Amino acid sequence: MGETLLLVGLQWGDEGKGKIIDTLAERFEVVIRFQGGANAGHTVQIGDEKFVLHLVPTGILHPDALCIIGNGVVVDPQALVEEIGALRKRGVKVAENLAVSDRAHVVLPHHKVLDRVADSSRGKDRLGTTGQGIGPCYADKAARCGIRFAELMDPGLFRERLEALLGTYNRILQAVYDTEPLDCDAVYTEYQAYAKELRPFVRDTVPLVHEALAGGKNILLEGAQGSLLDLDFGTYPFVTSSEVIGGAAPGSGIPPARIDRVVGLAKCYCTRVGAGPFPTEQDNEVGRTIRQTIQEHGGREYGATTGRQRRCGWLDGVALRYAARLGGVSAVAVSVLDVLSAFERIKVCTAYRVDGQVLRTFPANARVLQKAEPIYEELEGWQCDISGATGWGDLPAQARDYVRFMEELAGARVEFVSVGPERKQVIERKPDD
Ligand code: GDP
Ligand code: IMO
Ligand code: MG
Repeated sequence: MGETLLLVGLQWGDEGKGKIIDTLAERFEVVIRFQGGANAGHTVQIGDEKFVLHLVPTGILHPDALCIIGNGVVVDPQALVEEIGALRKRGVKVAENLAVSDRAHVVLPHHKVLDRVADSSRGKDRLGTTGQGIGPCYADKAARCGIRFAELMDPGLFRERLEALLGTYNRILQAVYDTEPLDCDAVYTEYQAYAKELRPFVRDTVPLVHEALAGGKNILLEGAQGSLLDLDFGTYPFVTSSEVIGGAAPGSGIPPARIDRVVGLAKCYCTRVGAGPFPTEQDNEVGRTIRQTIQEHGGREYGATTGRQRRCGWLDGVALRYAARLGGVSAVAVSVLDVLSAFERIKVCTAYRVDGQVLRTFPANARVLQKAEPIYEELEGWQCDISGATGWGDLPAQARDYVRFMEELAGARVEFVSVGPERKQVIERKPDD
């Protein structure tokens, strides 16, 4: 029997999923993206070469893996065509090893325009989206007026659906947002060109997935974003528009009961890009040290999709416990441990104080979280370079204690520790470590 493993980020995204998935992908024959879209930016570093994947599953860097963009993903065909072209230019095989579900929804130009104008019209309450059209595309999907790849591949039907959609949205763009309407002929022609390029990849992925399950293949489900950006459980409304935690089954066609293991990935500190509450944020020297240290170690705390500077702060243990519990994680992976080498003492938030009361659970109301003051525990730092560590025993005692502290908060064993951005810089903890 093969294994189906789900990897999910436990924070606000950018936990280093690309790097860990790349490490794991070696053992998996199939890698599936199941939610989100080109808002994701997953970085893999192989020697001096750096790859950033947005829509294509990270498994593509392993030529024998079958990579599937599942039905739950919202796919911008322009972004996908460009990404495939850029990967091929760098010698990466993108051929029959990539499949795009014909049930995946198509991101259309009005989604991208609406994403930008609607977010900026919120003024000070802006979410700071990536502008990739994610929210409006999922909104059309839920409203049952979206267009799927199966329809994009059928020119007559696509034309019909596009005319109906733009008939409504052009009026909204003009009347509500004072924005230029979109030209239906131009959009049709542009999208039929993408359809031609993507036709070889578009398939009914349900049989593919089920053949893989029946054939005992190992399947890796590649989560995008992070649990605290989940549409239901994240810091609503400062979230993305997909189900990050529970989206794997409906977004891929894998039956829920066939997911064998969930690995939750957490940074050993927190970052967030875009607006929204972030109780442990350190908009000060600590945040600057984090950004500078990761840069010195070959990583980046700047958005891999938008280039925006990421907000940095100490680990939020309340949020970690909440996310790990919701994900039902069977194991935890910890990333960027090398970056904390810069600190003499390290703080971890284990509860919040709100209006004089101690709060140990993650509140639903973003305003409550906004005013939550972290209650910290302090741990001793190790202040030495750990980026060359290859085994658990190579880590200084303080670093192992810090990881064990995270493990207690998450309620599951830490099985992977990443100590640098490079493919090989990861420690796999043995059962008796
Ligand atoms: P993802 O969206 O979860 O895949 O994460 P991103 O790729 O957006 O951001 C993670 C950043 O941290 C990238 O620049 C990675 O190269 C880098 N990175 C990942 N793991 C480590 C690590 O263990 N140490 C260091 N120094 N950098 C890391
Ligand atoms: P990966 O997969 C970090 C954030 C945006 C914004 C909010 C809503 O690389 O971890 P959206 O465009 O999704 O409507 O934006 O979500 N966001 C991410 N932050 N990493 C990501 O993906 C993100 N995808 C979306 O910054 O705050
Ligand atoms: Mg990212």
